[in-house]
Amino acid sequence: MLAITRTQYGSPDVLEVKEIEKPTPKAGELLIKVHATTINRTDCGILQGTPKLARLFFGWPKPKTHIMGTDFAGQVEAIGTGVSRFKVGDMIWGLNDEGIASQANYMVVQEKEAIVHLPKGFSCAEAVACAEGAHYAYNFINKISLKTGDKVMLNGATGAIGSAALQLLKHFGAYVTATANGKNIDLIKSLGADRIINYETEDFTQDNERYQYVFDAVGKSSFGRCKGLLTADGAYISSELGPGAENIYLPLVTKIKGGKRVKFPFPNNKQESLDLVKSLMEQGKFRAVIDRSYTIEQAIAAYQYVVSGQKTGNVILDLS
Ligand SMILES: NC(=O)c1ccc[n+]([C@@H]2O[C@H](COP(=O)([O-])OP(=O)(O)OC[C@H]3O[C@@H](n4cnc5c(N)ncnc54)[C@H](OP(=O)(O)O)[C@@H]3O)[C@@H](O)[C@H]2O)c1
Repeated sequence: MLAITRTQYGSPDVLEVKEIEKPTPKAGELLIKVHATTINRTDCGILQGTPKLARLFFGWPKPKTHIMGTDFAGQVEAIGTGVSRFKVGDMIWGLNDEGIASQANYMVVQEKEAIVHLPKGFSCAEAVACAEGAHYAYNFINKISLKTGDKVMLNGATGAIGSAALQLLKHFGAYVTATANGKNIDLIKSLGADRIINYETEDFTQDNERYQYVFDAVGKSSFGRCKGLLTADGAYISSELGPGAENIYLPLVTKIKGGKRVKFPFPNNKQESLDLVKSLMEQGKFRAVIDRSYTIEQAIAAYQYVVSGQKTGNVILDLS
């Protein structure tokens, strides 16, 4: 079988698509024929070993895991002893943003990982495009006390995190002003944005409205730049560490100071995120935003595109 592998940190050029042995499930594990995965910014972070601190976790000086991939959708082909949640033939999807070796024709995964059955009426590509960004977006929202009608400025509503955050914020009743490139205005209107700022022609930080929350889903701004947008007790939340990794220590500093604050949520409970998103998909309240698909042979080009920071929503690796 084919897999996208690497033995060192680096740019997409260190990737190799190679034949490896098909794995066998041990006790408590599932063997899955992978139909689709995404190539996402978490994969890029794992590939590049960034931020550098993450290498303490992913392996120093070289990565511990060689097969790439953080999410999957596919069919259970075999099960190890003791597996009870899933059976052979089940169509499932799952996520582990610490790496799950899913960018291959087959993978094994422990059944206790964050896994759900495919939502009814959705393809593997559609399901898997609702995992990684949605998990991070939900972990912005479940770390705050969002109330119906709260005003949220969402910077970067067209990324994987942004497009998921927009749909989830609308589900939880927020009034959302969202930024996007002019070419994507119709897309974010269709995802529910109440007001739209074209970031090519307008600086969102100069907006006259005041917001309970600023979600910097694309991590391009900073607390300092967005402070003026916040209400007296409003919060700035970013997907990136910010200038000088300030989003690591500003949550504590602003909490002690009082008033406008910074939150830097650490995502947890992947199963809860998948359960929520699956239920919303089946109710027609959440949908996949897919930019384009690549085959496994096109792995390097696919990673290069995702690393460029220009994808709209999600990029699919089609293994079907
Ligand atoms: N280290 C990690 O493990 C990790 C994991 C996940 C995410 N993250 C970070 O989280 C951030 C968001 O991730 P993502 O996957 O959602 O990103 P993404 O999908 O790669 O975001 C790309 C989107 O952001 C838009 N964008 C680019 N510059 C913008 C700007 N100045 N203002 C508004 N929108 C802009 C792009 O629009 P255009 O069409 O105009 O280019 C594109 O649609 C990234 O910075 C990523 O590095 C880090």
